[in-house]
Amino acid sequence: MSERTLWLRCEKKEFERRSALTPTTAKKLIDAGFKIFVERDEQRIFDDSEFEAVGCELVEHNSWPNAPKDVTIIGLKELPTSEEPLPHTHIQFAHCYKQRGGLSSVLARFHHGQGTLYDLEFLTDASGRRVAAFGFHAGFAGAAAGALALAAERSGKNLGLLVPYPNEGAMVADVKEKLGGSAKGLKVLVIGALGRCGRGAVDLFRKIGVEENDIVKWDMAETAKGGPFQEILDVDIFINCIYLTSKIPFFLTREQIQAAGKSRRLRVVVDVSCDTTNPNNPIPIYSINTTFSEPTVAVDTGAGNPPVSVISIDHLPTLLPREASEQFSADLLPSLLELPSRQSARVWTDAERLYKEKLADAVKAENL
Ligand SMILES: NC(=O)c1ccc[n+]([C@@H]2O[C@H](COP(=O)([O-])OP(=O)(O)OC[C@H]3O[C@@H](n4cnc5c(N)ncnc54)[C@H](O)[C@@H]3O)[C@@H](O)[C@H]2O)c1
Repeated sequence: MSERTLWLRCEKKEFERRSALTPTTAKKLIDAGFKIFVERDEQRIFDDSEFEAVGCELVEHNSWPNAPKDVTIIGLKELPTSEEPLPHTHIQFAHCYKQRGGLSSVLARFHHGQGTLYDLEFLTDASGRRVAAFGFHAGFAGAAAGALALAAERSGKNLGLLVPYPNEGAMVADVKEKLGGSAKGLKVLVIGALGRCGRGAVDLFRKIGVEENDIVKWDMAETAKGGPFQEILDVDIFINCIYLTSKIPFFLTREQIQAAGKSRRLRVVVDVSCDTTNPNNPIPIYSINTTFSEPTVAVDTGAGNPPVSVISIDHLPTLLPREASEQFSADLLPSLLELPSRQSARVWTDAERLYKEKLADAVKAENL
């Protein structure tokens, strides 16, 4: 029975309303013979009652440490910092494999508890691509934030606090309203337009009414000529959605912006890729990650020149928790259905092998 049991834990990160399982995917798992425990959680975008209605068993908030040891715990984000050993199997984003110069405190907890970690970032298909990722809604939400920043700038203000929307329709309606009813006349450029984030950004611009010809879509072919690109200065909003793997010529520089003087159209840059501190960041015009409470940072555009603001929020899908969770969880579902054969199903054996390698490296480095 435990092979077909999942325990959905609550998320303890502030503002995190997303969920690894949704009532839709929980129902599909139950139909396939799974037993699903769900921790009561007011922060989650889905009501506890939505899970109960599809047959999940509700359990106390944050009670997973007391769950039977053979039950698999599923969540999204990192566990709160602690030194408590972890004896369970956990499925989550752990961000603990890149630790240098010491055993990650998270891996140490697994080592001491003899649990297992399946990191969601490393569940991949046969071609090495992640089975589930939040990119589409990162691009969608990033484009919405960019349009909101433009609307704010047009009324002489800075964009204020961003609050997660209950659903996509509410986000689209709000952006349109802030732009005065329609986004017609807006011109935007999305680089990385063929990827997950890029497709999401393009979708938002279509939904708020930007005309197709005014949504400039670039990917590898268009940037092959090498930047910096004048074309970026000639749109209202530039969205960067590339997956950066190596050093490439800059897309946009501060000097280029300053040299353009007053004639520049560009007002807002959304760096969805958020390679903020990466020395190869192709948009070296800012140096901090922005936040929901302070979504934009101003670029030094030179005296007397119009402003440019940058949005560099690294958890954009949180702005659209319902749809982001639904898509992520649906993409994860085929792998979850394979959990009962985790000893032979490639997606799980690969993830477990990676975990064991990382753990062994860390243990060796620490001489434990
Ligand atoms: N800010 C956030 O909240 C957030 C959330 C999710 C993902 N991300 C980040 O967004 C980035 C993109 O993720 P994704 O899932 O969309 O990746 P992806 O692999 O699906 O898409 C990346 C796209 O960029 C293109 N590309 C790569 N290099 C390019 C170049 N030099 N010029 C033009 N196009 C180029 C690729 O061809 C591809 O189409 C990643 O860095 C990811 O970590 C950010």
